[in-house]
Order: sequence, then C-alpha cells, then structure tokens
Amino acid sequence: MPNTSARAIVNLDVTGHTISRHIYGHFAEHLGRCIYGGFWVGEDSEIPNVGGIRTDVVDALRAIRIPNLRWPGGCFADEYHWRDGIGPREQRPRMVNSHWGDVVEDNSFGTHEFMALCELLGADPYISGNVGSGTVREMSDWIEYLTRADDSPMAALRAANGREEPWRVPFWGLGNEAWGCGGNMRAEAYADLARQYATYVREHNDNRVYRIAAGADADDVSWTRVLMEQLGSMTEPVRSASPFQAVSVHRYTVPGPWENKGSATGFSEEDYWTTMATAKGTETALRKHARVMDCYDPDKKVGLVLDEWGTWWDVEPGTNPGFLFQQNTLRDALVAGMHFDAFHALADRLVMANIAQTVNVLQAMIHTDPDTNALLLTPTYHVFAMNADHQDAQYLPTHLDAPAAVRSVDGAEVPTLSVSASRKDGKVLLSASNLDLEHSVTLSVDLRGGRLDSVTAQLLTAEKVDTWNDAGNPHAVAPADLEVASADGVVRLEIPPHSFVTVRGTLVG
Ligand code: AHR
Repeated sequence: MPNTSARAIVNLDVTGHTISRHIYGHFAEHLGRCIYGGFWVGEDSEIPNVGGIRTDVVDALRAIRIPNLRWPGGCFADEYHWRDGIGPREQRPRMVNSHWGDVVEDNSFGTHEFMALCELLGADPYISGNVGSGTVREMSDWIEYLTRADDSPMAALRAANGREEPWRVPFWGLGNEAWGCGGNMRAEAYADLARQYATYVREHNDNRVYRIAAGADADDVSWTRVLMEQLGSMTEPVRSASPFQAVSVHRYTVPGPWENKGSATGFSEEDYWTTMATAKGTETALRKHARVMDCYDPDKKVGLVLDEWGTWWDVEPGTNPGFLFQQNTLRDALVAGMHFDAFHALADRLVMANIAQTVNVLQAMIHTDPDTNALLLTPTYHVFAMNADHQDAQYLPTHLDAPAAVRSVDGAEVPTLSVSASRKDGKVLLSASNLDLEHSVTLSVDLRGGRLDSVTAQLLTAEKVDTWNDAGNPHAVAPADLEVASADGVVRLEIPPHSFVTVRGTLVG
C-alpha cells in the first residue's frame, strides 16, 4: 500500500486554553425515535429500565462521560409547552408534533423524566426554552419550577408532582433557530426578544444560569453581529452587563441539496470527498463567527455554542421521512474526528457543542432496533469514547508538517490529515484522522518540552469506509490496539487509510 509521511510537533510544556468537556455535549429532541423508543421505553417495558429510561442507553452514554444533554429541541422546543409534560402521565394533554412526522405526542416524557434522565447520566441539563410560540411568563415559570427551593407557586407545584428538591439547571437556551422554525424572525427582532426573555430566566437560590441566545445558521455572521451588538461594551463583568452569556450557531455537514443529500451508506469516492470538504467548512464557519465576536468581546467572555452539528443524509429507505433516521458509517466517524480537532483548537471561544442527535436520529451515537430492541454503538460513538480524555484537558498547540496530505476538492484544498493534542493529570492524548482512502501515513510525533512513557495507540477503521455496525456484525467498526514506537522523544505510528487513531502517554518527570 503506498504511503506518505508527516510530522507533528507537540510542545508538551506550552499549554493553551482548556477544552471544555461540554464540547462533547449531546442533543435529544422529540423527533422520531430519539426520545420515544430511544431513551424512553416506559416503566412497563420489558426492556430493562429505571423509571422508564432505558438502562443500556444510559450505561453506554455514561461510558463516554456525556457532559450535558440539550432538550426538548430543536424545532420542537419552540412549540413545546412544558406544563403539558408534568403531572400524572395519563392526564397529560396530547399535541401534534408538526415538525417531525406530524405524529401525536402524548407528553409522557416531560420535565421530571428529562431531569431524571440527566441524573442517571450524570449530565448537566441544557433546556431549550420556547420563544417562538411560548410566552415570557411560561419560560419564567419553567425555571422557577425547576430550580426554586422554597414554597413559591412553581416550587410548590413541583413538590406536588413528587419532587421536593429543586434541580440544578446550568444551561438555558432562548429559543432555537429563530431565523427559521423558531419563528422566522429577523435578527433584530429576535435580539430584542432574547433580551426580554433572558431577563425573566431568573437565577433562583444558588442556581447560576448560562443563557444561550439562539444563533446563526451556518456561516451567517450578520446574525452573530446583531446579537453581539446587544451586549454593548464588555468592559464590565459580563453577567451584569449582558442579557445572555453565549450565542449559538448550527452547522450541519450536508454535502448535497436538501432534496438529495445523499445516502449514508451508498456513496461514491467523489461523494466522500465532497463530504470531507463540507465537514471542513464547519471550522471555517466557526472561525468566522469567532472573528466577529472578537470585535465586540476581545476578552472572550461570551461563549460560542455549536448546539447542533453532524452529518445529515437522506433518511434510510422505508423509514418515516419525518423521523430523520440514517445509518452511520466509518465516514461519519471521520467527520466527527475532524470536527473535534477543530473544536479543540477553537475552544478559547467555543464553549460547547452538541451532536445532533444522541439516539436514532441523524449522526447518532446509538441505534436501538425497533423490532429486536437490541442496542448498537455506531462508529461515531467510538470517536467520542476514544476522545473522552480531551474533556477539560489543556489544549497543546500542535504544528503539523504534512505537505503531501492534501486533496483538491472542487478547487478547494482539503487537508487529508487532521491532528490535535491535549494534556490532563499528567497524561497526554493525541488524536489523528487520516482521511485518505488509499494511502497510509507514517506519522512522527516530535515531542518537545517533556518526555512520554507508556505510550499506547488505538485505531478505528475498517476495510471499507462505508462500513457500519449492524445486528449481524455489531463490531464491524470498533477500536483496536495499534502498534506504536516511542524512542528519543519521537513517537512513530502508521495510520492506515480512512482511519481515526488516538495515542496516549504518561508525562515523565
Ligand atoms: O436536528 C434536527 C433539526 O435541525 C432541529 O430540530 C433544528 O433545530 C435543525 O434545523
């Protein structure tokens, strides 16, 4: 197999910013089989569950240290009225989920069920409030219901529904995609509403809330500019000076037109490269938003939150088009690996990212079989698992010297090797993706400013890049040990074509 070589220089003693664990965040919407049939099976289900929540799903997500979960949408958030989802389940009103399949939602999974899920996961809740069709009072009541400790009207209602203790809710979204499904607003109109709604998202007791304004579509920096203008001068402490502490952005990897996005599994080499070029565009978009934010907030006090990202393919044939179920191959895993390298580099501004979505929808971690109830881990899941030690680690700026690792796609240069590194608790983790479909890469990692001991490596690949995990072969794409050599301050490994690898070592001295 033809080979190329590349060199990465890592300065072990020059640490950069912290990579927030929330960059490994998740998103679960009332969409298709994400909540119902994914997380939630109900207490009477024969599938093992705790209070209706699937145990195997929880275990799998705890294993990758899921840091937060965004809920209930997405577009669904702006038509969700939280009071419909509390109290005895059999008395909860029903509604039509007009965005996703036009199905009837029975509200059996509501606030208490979501907060119980977060407790089981050990994840921080990120609630996406309704600005599009809700009211200020509704949002204000919801946070009081969730977080207030005394006998206020909402706290008393919560207690009457069986939960005496308030919960902690650190993240709060002010609507979703206000430029589209969240109300089709102009940026200026939304910015006013964001200020107004944010005012009434109160901090009860000691619950500190990080309010996230609904941000731009992809690289629409004018939306970000309008939001940042609301914040005024950032010379004062940001909490008192600004109505919200972060702005979001959504950016999916959609390599074709909406009506023909392409198949998750049946793709050509050309489709593959278009995908990689499109995925690289997320980094470009984030850099553009970050530059705009720098103009208003050079000290980077306001966070950028990519609260929806991932691949978006045509739905699997024979499935409900409104349910957005797609297969997940090694190609999706490589897209994830590349995204994380960009996220790590940009983590001085990017404080959170949430993959869309956790179970059974879009670029999922987990698929549950509706017939057999079996749980499958997707190739993307394994990237989250292999990368978990980047969470809350110090970013290590890495210089990559790989002149041959580049591919021209429609006139644009797409790097075919992507690398990032971090250190935490005396350990170093380096991740690398070789996107090339034919050539392996011999990577020499030149370590400066320190020494590493006990160096090991793991590999995620398969013979073909369109391989996925299914009931017949649940581990077709799964991590395996990879040979790695370490001597005289240089770590050497061969990264096969279309593969994702991680290298770990312990700092000596
Ligand atoms: O994740 C699916 C949908 O994509 C979300 O509901 C919406 O916010 C976005 O357009």
